[in-house]
Amino acid sequence: MKIIILGGTGFIGRHICEKLVRAGHEVTVPTRKIENAREIQMLPRLQPLRCNVHDQQQLTQAVAGHDVLINLVAILHGSEQEFERVHVTLPKTIVAACKASGVGRIVQMSSLGAALDAPSQYLRSKGRGEQIFTQSGLDVSILRPSVVFGEGDKLLNVFAALQQNFPFVPLAGSDAQFQPVWVEDVAQAAVQLVVGNNYKNDSIPRSIYAGNMPKTFEITGNRVMSLRELFELAGQCVGASRAIVHLPDALARVQAWAMEKMPGPTLMSRDNLNSMKSPNVASGQLPGLRDLGIEPTGIEAIAPLYLRPKSRLDQYRKSASR
Ligand SMILES: NC(=O)c1ccc[n+]([C@@H]2O[C@H](COP(=O)([O-])OP(=O)(O)OC[C@H]3O[C@@H](n4cnc5c(N)ncnc54)[C@H](OP(=O)(O)O)[C@@H]3O)[C@@H](O)[C@H]2O)c1
Repeated sequence: MKIIILGGTGFIGRHICEKLVRAGHEVTVPTRKIENAREIQMLPRLQPLRCNVHDQQQLTQAVAGHDVLINLVAILHGSEQEFERVHVTLPKTIVAACKASGVGRIVQMSSLGAALDAPSQYLRSKGRGEQIFTQSGLDVSILRPSVVFGEGDKLLNVFAALQQNFPFVPLAGSDAQFQPVWVEDVAQAAVQLVVGNNYKNDSIPRSIYAGNMPKTFEITGNRVMSLRELFELAGQCVGASRAIVHLPDALARVQAWAMEKMPGPTLMSRDNLNSMKSPNVASGQLPGLRDLGIEPTGIEAIAPLYLRPKSRLDQYRKSASR
């Protein structure tokens, strides 16, 4: 099959690309900058393509000739206009490009908690994006992961680094609930929906879908954990357990505001705090990993493998791969 993956250079995308090429498929990855594809460009049968996916004409040309499109493009921080552009306008452009070029199948990576009435701009815009895909008339599958962990994640790695560098850590939303899921399981779920053992396979009961409605999956791990527990796990893995200073709401918002204004990547925004107002756990009303034949991998088994204290050799390897 020929598969085009928007956002394929990112954390989850790299794992999906690897699985698809390993299975013998041809993969195209549009990217804003070819250098962003450096970690995947050596994969066989994978073609990075410089493309502005927001441009209708460029995207239509890029999409033509593929069997399936996977969309992983998203931002976690930004203004209302930026969320609108990436999570709402881009889905409209994707749907138009797929229709114009005859691509009938889309797999959309959304987020657990995405809804029109969700507490944050991120989740509301993700909810509106889902609506555009589900009303498109195309064959659409939607994956809604909880927070994703794995080598290169932006949660446990940050928690580990904070504890390695500071004697205590002020933490907002420490009681917020998540159901962390391994990046390999998320990638495998996307692959199942794209190529094999998918919803058309008899091994997955048709009854989990309401008629011909688009198929939405809650992609979660086997354990509900608070942010505090995730923080503690990261500290244990690197042998640097530090105390948390719990921040009350008002102070947490001031901290998040300050982080938004600081140069460099934003660690936490006020919108992230809003997202944490509702538990990021599966509702149980929708199919999940097990319905796709995937047994969720425990975080305790994986986190120590990539968070272990880094040796000098690891650091050399990392700088050599840049
Ligand atoms: N990671 C998680 O814990 C998590 C949890 C729940 C849901 N999700 C969802 O899973 C999907 C993938 O997440 P991820 O963590 O792999 O994301 P990621 O690492 O940030 O990658 C996203 C990719 O999207 C592209 N992109 C970003 N901003 C863009 C923009 N303004 N215009 C065009 N392209 C842009 C980038 O590709 P180029 O730089 O190559 O252009 C980037 O590699 C997203 O939809 C996210 O909401 C992730």
